[in-house]
Amino acid sequence: MKPEPVLRLEGVIKEYGEEVVTRVLHGIDLTLEQGEFAALIGPSGSGKSTLLNIIGLLDRPTSGRVLLQGQDTRGLDEDSLARLRARTLGFIFQFHHLMPAFTALENVMMPALAERGWPDERMRTRALELLAQVGLKERAGAHPGQLSGGQQQRVAIARALVMSPALVLADEPTGNLDTGTSAQVFELLRHINREQRMTFLIVTHDPRMAQRCDRIIEVVDGRIVSDRREPPHSG
Ligand SMILES: Nc1ncnc2c1ncn2[C@@H]1O[C@H](COP(=O)(O)OP(=O)(O)OP(=O)(O)O)[C@@H](O)[C@H]1O
Ligand SMILES: [Mg+2]
Repeated sequence: MKPEPVLRLEGVIKEYGEEVVTRVLHGIDLTLEQGEFAALIGPSGSGKSTLLNIIGLLDRPTSGRVLLQGQDTRGLDEDSLARLRARTLGFIFQFHHLMPAFTALENVMMPALAERGWPDERMRTRALELLAQVGLKERAGAHPGQLSGGQQQRVAIARALVMSPALVLADEPTGNLDTGTSAQVFELLRHINREQRMTFLIVTHDPRMAQRCDRIIEVVDGRIVSDRREPPHSG
């Protein structure tokens, strides 16, 4: 039997406003299978972040359904949504909001702490493994203020992965980094996707980055106007 897709959206509509209602998403249907590495592109204001927030269970659609690993999220209360979010999703944003008073290692452990309430050895080991994977093993004890922008973003990536989420949502993850660093960070995501079969949905304005994804989903004015799978690239 085919496994449930990681994500399924059915007829997702989002409207803002009470008196003057603006429809921002016009009935989005979308499926992501496990292991996909997909780019979400489109002009400014087209609804990419709105869509990502709905997928990330940070915001609810006005109508339509969001299914994560086959589970319909429509009837869930805030607590259940928060739990499902913590278990299945990882977030990487342009501004990573690391906690300045905590070390890189503590920042990476934070989601696990929030879930379980106390640090255990396994959590620490996993966080250290992830820091090693993002090339920051030697910097585990550093505070965010002592790290470069690219290093901070790599800490944020490790933090997003610490709970082994089925789906990682990234909203312009390299938006505030220089070209070289942003290519490195992107390659790191690609590597993790290949190695751990984690599913990624990445909002990007950078056409070169989108070209290096397996699939490019384009949104214009709140509608998916194209959805194409790229032939595999070499190198
Ligand atoms: N909380 C809100 N209330 C009212 N309108 C909103 C709200 N959030 C977003 N919008 C509107 O919804 C539309 C889509 O916004 P969204 O942030 O999803 O665009 P985007 O594709 O992410 O753009 P960008 O590439 O600039 O980040 C815009 O017209 C925006 O003004
Ligand atoms: Mg946006």
